[in-house]
Amino acid sequence: MSQKTATAIAHPNIAFIKYWGNRHQALRIPANGSISMNLGALFTRTQVTFDESLAADQLSINEAPATGAAHHRVSDFLAWVRHISAIEEFARVESENNFPMGTGIASSASAFAALSLAASRAAGLGLDEKDLSRLARRGSGSACRSVPGGFAEWQVGTGDDNSYAYSIAAPEHWDLIDCVAIVDQDHKTTTSIEGHAIADTSPLQAMRIEQVPSYLARCREAILQRDFEAFAQITEHDCLIMHAVMMTSSPSLIYWLPPTLAIIRAVRDWRKSGIPACYTIDAGPNVHVISEESYLNKVKSLLEDIPGVHQVMISGPGGAAHLTD
Ligand code: DP6
Repeated sequence: MSQKTATAIAHPNIAFIKYWGNRHQALRIPANGSISMNLGALFTRTQVTFDESLAADQLSINEAPATGAAHHRVSDFLAWVRHISAIEEFARVESENNFPMGTGIASSASAFAALSLAASRAAGLGLDEKDLSRLARRGSGSACRSVPGGFAEWQVGTGDDNSYAYSIAAPEHWDLIDCVAIVDQDHKTTTSIEGHAIADTSPLQAMRIEQVPSYLARCREAILQRDFEAFAQITEHDCLIMHAVMMTSSPSLIYWLPPTLAIIRAVRDWRKSGIPACYTIDAGPNVHVISEESYLNKVKSLLEDIPGVHQVMISGPGGAAHLTD
């Protein structure tokens, strides 16, 4: 019997230098390069089975059937996998996350990295890491960074062939931790898909894009040198400039809530007092506080004391997307 099924695991990632805006929306060729760290404690596990008895692609997420936009996005992606392989059958996709959805931790990165690996393998394609990262990028831009392990850089590239991510340091290189302060569990925000599409309406976006190559160099160097202070300065600056673009887009996107700002101010004070901690924020109000493993308990309890923080989730660096079979 031919093996038309495969299961893969991938981790979400947190960007230190952010991806915001596309040069080519459908292909997800980004406006700028980005750098991230995989979150090893969190994962998506996805099984894909191509089955000739199916009349359409089927998707379940955490054991519940998924329809609507999520199903559409996955089915479009599978159509591309069929296009580049010899497979014609529809697929059954069963996906589960070990982290709650609606915590503001983007599941699309781990979801499309795991889906890319499972679907391409089930379709009989043996893609190398670069081609897998290119494939994942089509599903969700940030997913291309969840394909390689540890600390990854997504090189902006000029087109589909050379826009992909690779590892710049292994997970063991630096024992950073991400303490995610959950201040809101509400789903209702503007999605990153919609946000990328209006990034260019901000007068600040062009200036940001011009600056990012120097941010990437500073961040990459700080990671390689394990220089926390340099890392903190560029990571926070990059986060603020992306949010400045968001806030000045049309329509204006303001993702922060009052506790978001309270955490920003607290983290600044903690660092002044000698605690290695810095913040970064994605397209939502929750704050990722990055620190070093030896300060985990300290940072976690400081965060839990801030009014409005419901929960703190913790993760260190994680490895590459991999098959479980
Ligand atoms: C703010 O990768 O989620 O988290 O390609 O539309 O799926 P799509 O967007 P996505 O955008 C991520 C935006 C960000 C910054 C980042 O992770 O680099």
